[in-house]
Amino acid sequence: MRVAVTGANGLLGGAAVAWLVGRHDVLAIGRGASRLPPGAFRWADADLGDGRSVEVALRDFRAEAVLHAGAMTDVDGCERQPEAAWRVNVGGTEQVARACRALRARLVAVSTDYVFDGAAGPYGEDDLPNPRGAYARSKRCGEEAAFLLAPGCAVARVAVVYSGRPGAKTTFATQVVEKLSRGEPVKAFSDQIVSPTLAESGAAMTLELLLETDFHGVLHTAGATALDRVDFARRVAARFALEGEIIPVHTADVKLLAPRPLRAGLRVERAAALLREQPLAIDAALDRFHAQWLGRVSA
Ligand SMILES: NC(=O)c1ccc[n+]([C@@H]2O[C@H](COP(=O)([O-])OP(=O)(O)OC[C@H]3O[C@@H](n4cnc5c(N)ncnc54)[C@H](OP(=O)(O)O)[C@@H]3O)[C@@H](O)[C@H]2O)c1
Repeated sequence: MRVAVTGANGLLGGAAVAWLVGRHDVLAIGRGASRLPPGAFRWADADLGDGRSVEVALRDFRAEAVLHAGAMTDVDGCERQPEAAWRVNVGGTEQVARACRALRARLVAVSTDYVFDGAAGPYGEDDLPNPRGAYARSKRCGEEAAFLLAPGCAVARVAVVYSGRPGAKTTFATQVVEKLSRGEPVKAFSDQIVSPTLAESGAAMTLELLLETDFHGVLHTAGATALDRVDFARRVAARFALEGEIIPVHTADVKLLAPRPLRAGLRVERAAALLREQPLAIDAALDRFHAQWLGRVSA
C-alpha cells in the first residue's frame, strides 16, 4: 500500500516511517532534508504552513493512507506565534485532509491531550475538550478540520512523546537520563499528570488504526499509565539505575508562556479494546526506552 507520513523527522513520524519501511511503499514528508537513517522510502520536502505543498506531495504520490504527525509542537513557541501555529496545525491539517478526500485515502491525524483543560484528567475520548492556549486551540481545530474535510478519518491523541532511538530529539525523558548521568539535578513538575507515550508504541498503535481498521472518531493511543512528572522522572532514573536529585516544582512557580493542563493524561481503554497493539504500561515502555538508549550509546 502507498502510505505517507507527515512530520517524518519528528518523534512519532520518524518511528512510523521506521515501522513502515519494508512493509509498504512509503512517502516520508518533512520540512527540509531528511534526518532519518537512510532506508527504502521516498522523501518530500514540503511545508505544512504554506497552504499547498503537502497536498501536492500527497497527490503526486497517490497516497492510499496518510498518518498526519507533522505539527508545530513547541507549546510556548505557538503562544509567541499564534498565527504560525494556526497556519501549520489547522491549515496543514486542512491540506492533508483535502488531499485524502480527493484521493479517497484513509487518514489518521495525530493530536494531543492538551485539547483538555486539565481540570479532571485523565480523560476519555468522550470527555469534552476545552483547549487553553494557542497550541491547544490550534490542535483542537485541526481535529475538527480533519473530521470536516476527510469524513471517515480518525484522530489519534497522544501525550508527552519520547524516544531513545538514535537521532530522536531531546525530551523530558532524555533530559532526565542525561542530566542525572552528569550528576546534575532534574526539576520536574509535581502537579502535572501526564500519560507519557513512547514514540514507537504510539506509532505502532496509530499505524494499526490507520491500516487495519476503519475506525472513525477519536482514539487515545497514548501510554497506559497516567502519573505526575516527578514520578515519571523517578521511574526513568530507577530504570537506568541513576541516582541524583529530582526536585519537585509547581507549575505556577515557573514562568511559562502558554498554560499547561495540570490534571491531564489520557485514558486508553478504547484503544486497548480495539487494537492488537496494546498501550504500554510505564515500566514496559521504560524497558524499551532503556534498550533503545543502550543501542544509541553503542552506535
Ligand atoms: N511531542 C509531544 O510531547 C506531543 C504530545 C502530544 C501530542 N503530540 C502530537 O503528536 C504529533 C507528533 O508530534 P511529535 O511528538 O512527533 O513532535 P515533533 O518531534 O516535534 O514532530 C513534529 C514534526 O512536524 C514538523 N513540522 C513542524 N512544522 C512544520 C511545517 N511547517 N511543515 C512541515 N513539517 C513541520 C517538525 O519538523 P522539524 O523536525 O523540522 O522541526 C517535526 O518533525 C503532533 O500532532 C503533536 O501535536 C506531541
